[in-house]
Amino acid sequence: MKIDVNHITMIYPSGKKALQDVSLSAESPNFIGILGPNGAGKTTLMKLLIAGLLPTRGEILLDNKSLLSQEKYLKSQLGYLPQSFGLYEELTVWQFLDYMAALKNIKDAKAVTTVLERTNMTEQKKIRIRNLSGGQRQRVGITQALLGNPQLIILDEPTVGLDPEERVKFRNIFSEMAQDKIVLLSTHIVEDVQAVCSRVLVIHDGLILFDGTPSALIAQAENHVGICFAQPGGTVPDGCQIVSKVHTADGIRSRIIAEQLPPYAQPSEPTLEDAYLYCIHSPARRSRISAVNSSVCENQGEEVRIR
Ligand SMILES: Nc1ncnc2c1ncn2[C@@H]1O[C@H](COP(=O)(O)OP(=O)(O)O)[C@@H](O)[C@H]1O
Ligand SMILES: [Mg+2]
Repeated sequence: MKIDVNHITMIYPSGKKALQDVSLSAESPNFIGILGPNGAGKTTLMKLLIAGLLPTRGEILLDNKSLLSQEKYLKSQLGYLPQSFGLYEELTVWQFLDYMAALKNIKDAKAVTTVLERTNMTEQKKIRIRNLSGGQRQRVGITQALLGNPQLIILDEPTVGLDPEERVKFRNIFSEMAQDKIVLLSTHIVEDVQAVCSRVLVIHDGLILFDGTPSALIAQAENHVGICFAQPGGTVPDGCQIVSKVHTADGIRSRIIAEQLPPYAQPSEPTLEDAYLYCIHSPARRSRISAVNSSVCENQGEEVRIR
C-alpha cells in the first residue's frame, strides 16, 4: 500500500487554516509518529487521510489513484481510532466488536476472538462498555481499530488515558502490527514515538516542520542543548527555552535549548524530547511559519469543501 499526500491545504469554514501545503508519502511497511502540540493539525491530517474531510486544496492518492475514487477499498483496509469517539454504552465489549466487524464487512468469524487475544482484552469481553474504566475504554477503541488486520492503521492519540504499563504493552502491539503495514500514530507524548516509530513527522501550526528518522531529528538539535546553573531568581537569557529545572544545593540547574547556547552553558546530548522542542521553537522554523502564513493570506476567500 502507498499513500501520497500532495500539497494539502485545509481551511475550515470558520476560516481557520489547519494545514498549509502539507506533502508526504508513505509506503508499507512504515510506522510514522506524528508529533505536535495541541492545535497543530494532527487530527485534521488524519481525518483527511480517512476521507472524513475534503481538503481545500491538494489531493491524496492511495496506490496512485485518488483517495475519493476508492473509498470502499480504503474502508476495507482501514483501522481508525478517532481522538474522541462514542462507544455503545449498553453493549458488552464482545457485542461492540462484533457490531464493528459487521460494519466493516469482515467475513472472518474468528476476527473478534483474534483481536481480543492480541490486545489482551479477552477477560473483559462480557463487560458492558458503560462499566469499563477510562483506560479500558481506550483499549476497546484500539482493539476495534485493529479488527480484521487492516493494512492502514491510523491512531489519533491512542495512548491517552492508558497507564504507563498499558502504554508499553500497546506500543509493543503497534510495533508488531507495523511490520507489513502503514501505521500513523499521533501523539504529544514523545516517548511513544521514541519507542516504536521509524519515522517522525513534527507538525506545528499546520506545517510539517520535520519528516525523517528520530535520530535525524536528534541530530538537528546537536549543539543546541545545554545545562546551566542560575541562582534562585536568576533569569534565563533571551532566546533560550527551559526544558527542565531542578533545584540543587548549587542553585537551579536548568536544561535549556537555544539557537546559540550562552557561553556558560555546558553542552549536552539532545534527547528526542529536546529535539522536538528545538524543532518547534527554533527561530529558523518560526520564520518559515510566518513566511507561509503571509503567502497563504493572499489566497483567502477560496471555496471551502467539507463533508
Ligand atoms: N471543525 C473545525 N472547525 C474549525 N476549526 C477547527 C475544526 N477542527 C479543528 N479546528 C482547528 O484547526 C486547528 C488544528 O486542529 P487539530 O487538527 O484538531 O489539531 P491537533 O489534533 O494537532 O490538536 C486548531 O486550531 C483547531 O482549533
Ligand atoms: Mg488532535
